[in-house]
Amino acid sequence: MSSPAFTTAAEGSVHDLPPRHIAVHPLTGHIGAEIEGPDLSRPLAPEVVEEIRAALLKWKVVFFRDQPLTHAEHVQLAGAFGAPTIGHPVFGFVEGFPQIYSVARDRFAGRHSGEPLIRPWTGWHTDVTAAVNPPAASILRGDVIPPYGGDTFWTNLATAYESLSPTLRGFVDTLRGVHSFSAPEGQAATDDFKEKNRRRPLVSEHPLVRVIPETGERVLFVSPSFLKRITGLSPRESQQILELLFEHITRPEFTVRFRWQKGSIAFWDNRTTAHLAPRDIYSLDFDRQLYRITLKGDVPVGVDGRPSTAIEGEPLDAFSAGTA
Ligand code: SIN
Repeated sequence: MSSPAFTTAAEGSVHDLPPRHIAVHPLTGHIGAEIEGPDLSRPLAPEVVEEIRAALLKWKVVFFRDQPLTHAEHVQLAGAFGAPTIGHPVFGFVEGFPQIYSVARDRFAGRHSGEPLIRPWTGWHTDVTAAVNPPAASILRGDVIPPYGGDTFWTNLATAYESLSPTLRGFVDTLRGVHSFSAPEGQAATDDFKEKNRRRPLVSEHPLVRVIPETGERVLFVSPSFLKRITGLSPRESQQILELLFEHITRPEFTVRFRWQKGSIAFWDNRTTAHLAPRDIYSLDFDRQLYRITLKGDVPVGVDGRPSTAIEGEPLDAFSAGTA
């Protein structure tokens, strides 16, 4: 695999220094900070990029307000932090902007409406973990925002790992699991969803705990919508352990909730977080339209040094003309 395109701050550089070019306002004890200062529609100075990256490593998701970017500006912003992938390897991209994925209210029409939530963590996920190298980061931009409802949640998977008992940490350190895009438990997939999955199958095995190279942090890399089973356990053992871990990572104290406005941007470290797209919008009549760019990621490596493996599909590469 080629070297990762999500460039990260060198160890021991600006991580712990107070930023000088931006203001960072933490939002909770464990995750989320609002960043003030930069105009994201313009090319960013290297020191600003470095400070935003440091805030991202620390706070896992950072938010910006009043940044009404065009698609082209969004692509330029993403390029300052890494190499954008194709919008979505299975579900497509915005015409004319292959790096952008349209997060439209009804993009999976029929999947959500009226269907019961089987588990409170249904819908929580980390982006594209079915790929052997899930995106390092995602940059989501709000365009059409409902007057109320439609908030997104993120959770800090490093804090979730740290707050397990040492005995359970030792056990999950040894586990690996299979991730795929099949429809979440309890939800019927539309024919379109099934057909796209059939055409571009993606299935990978990842360690349940990955180590983040720049910080050495251990992260409980479980993505409730996509992690289907733990390798080597019986179905019942696998299901019960996953339920325990899914419930654990979605504990409210590990999370932050973001209220969108037009021009808001959420930029998250996709290696150390999971997020929950809103469901309340399906009982409201308002439209909601956001746009997302994901940055090429590394192949995760477990505590034992073993990398993830692809079961089906190709690694997610940086977008270049011809990839689409
Ligand atoms: C996503 O899952 O990337 C989109 C989140 C959202 O719609 O709030």
